[in-house]
Amino acid sequence: MHKDFEEDAVDAATRVLNSNWTGRHTVPATGLYPHQWSWDSAFVAIGNRHREPGRARAELVTLLDAQWPDGRVPQIVYDVGRDDDYAPGAGFWGAATSGLVQPPVHAWAAWLVHCADLAGSAREGFLARVYPRLARWHEYLHGLRAGGAGLPVTKHPWETGTDNSPLWDAALERVPPRSRTPVRRPDLRHAGTGERPGSRDYRRYYRLAETYRDAGCADDVPVGFAMVCPLFSTLLAVSEIALARMAEALSDGGGDARADVHEATAARVVAAMDEHLWDDDLGQYVALDDTTGQRVRRATVNGLVPLLLAGGPEPAGTSAARSGRTSGTTTGAGALLGPGRAERLLATLAGPGFLGGGPNLPSTSREDPAFDPALYWRGPAWFNMSWLLLRAVQTLGRDDLAARLREHFAVAEPEIFPEYTDPDTGTGRGTRQFSWTAALTLDVLLSTDECILPTPAPPSA
Ligand code: DGY
Repeated sequence: MHKDFEEDAVDAATRVLNSNWTGRHTVPATGLYPHQWSWDSAFVAIGNRHREPGRARAELVTLLDAQWPDGRVPQIVYDVGRDDDYAPGAGFWGAATSGLVQPPVHAWAAWLVHCADLAGSAREGFLARVYPRLARWHEYLHGLRAGGAGLPVTKHPWETGTDNSPLWDAALERVPPRSRTPVRRPDLRHAGTGERPGSRDYRRYYRLAETYRDAGCADDVPVGFAMVCPLFSTLLAVSEIALARMAEALSDGGGDARADVHEATAARVVAAMDEHLWDDDLGQYVALDDTTGQRVRRATVNGLVPLLLAGGPEPAGTSAARSGRTSGTTTGAGALLGPGRAERLLATLAGPGFLGGGPNLPSTSREDPAFDPALYWRGPAWFNMSWLLLRAVQTLGRDDLAARLREHFAVAEPEIFPEYTDPDTGTGRGTRQFSWTAALTLDVLLSTDECILPTPAPPSA
């Protein structure tokens, strides 16, 4: 990217993050999403670590302050003053937060935030504050949320972060499109109807949320939707490795028993993904319906994200290297994916359904019958997905694919940091001045260490 363009984009992205900062957290967008969202905050912290590390730490601490006693980190922490501006709100849940969750990218974010400013992190005791809460969050997912395959289940499409992905279509068909709570759509004031889930989807979303809420958000009561997502499981595995690095840093060079436990847990998650979520015909991972035991054979970006677990150079001195669990040049977390899987995933990523079929990475394969370049998670290119795959291919040394994925960030500033874009034309879709688009653009432009996976051992303070 051109130098002047980069400076303009850094300034403009910084302005978006400044105006969306409330003093304790960052809203994803002032109109469409006026509260704090769980995985949005993690991506925002990843971007803010470069210039505003204190704010990045505060972002994560504020979110973790809302953690439930059972360990769950809520999908949304409401700003009660704005309950009319987003639905369903605090009134629906009868609580200060949503009872649902979102993909667990937080421990990875917290580790990157820590490594970006070791002195500030030490001064605030950041790791000691967040590590136990993040470990409890993961215990909740491994425990109360464990499905038949030993992988965490999501109880609502909102929990997957990819609400109307075709991965959830068949399971949603079984949910009656009727709710007692009237459906409100303030979202349609901020994005076109052709860019947001439809009203039939929303009636089912409300029905599911209502059923879960009325069961006291208890996880042993079936609500009619229990899906294992390859994106969610991958982020849990990556974050589990981040917890291992945190445990080592906290143990002051002493025993790293807890680190070994986290690494073993990550290995178990990836082995279960390999066994239950791989689709050899599609050449990628897919979702699993925990109710029927069937795999959902649809090609989406969710199923490419496991490339994050495909390898890369092992940082010297990590416990994996010391334990002799790995060998060769592509090791660490990469040793966990099954043989040949990384090559197949790379071929699918480069193939006609994804980067081979147009300029940017679509959320749903161009070859899937549901593909729609404007409609939320059914085709548009999302910046967090471009970022996740960019980090994966950089770690694998695939500069050709990295250059393709970086191209997406070149349209962020000219399109006013849109929520997502048309994957063929680059036209902005959804809301504008979207925080994670700005934050991840900053991360791409300002990162000096591109190889952030597997999470490196920290430099000494
Ligand atoms: C929305 O409202 O579209 C969000 O994806 C829910 O988290």
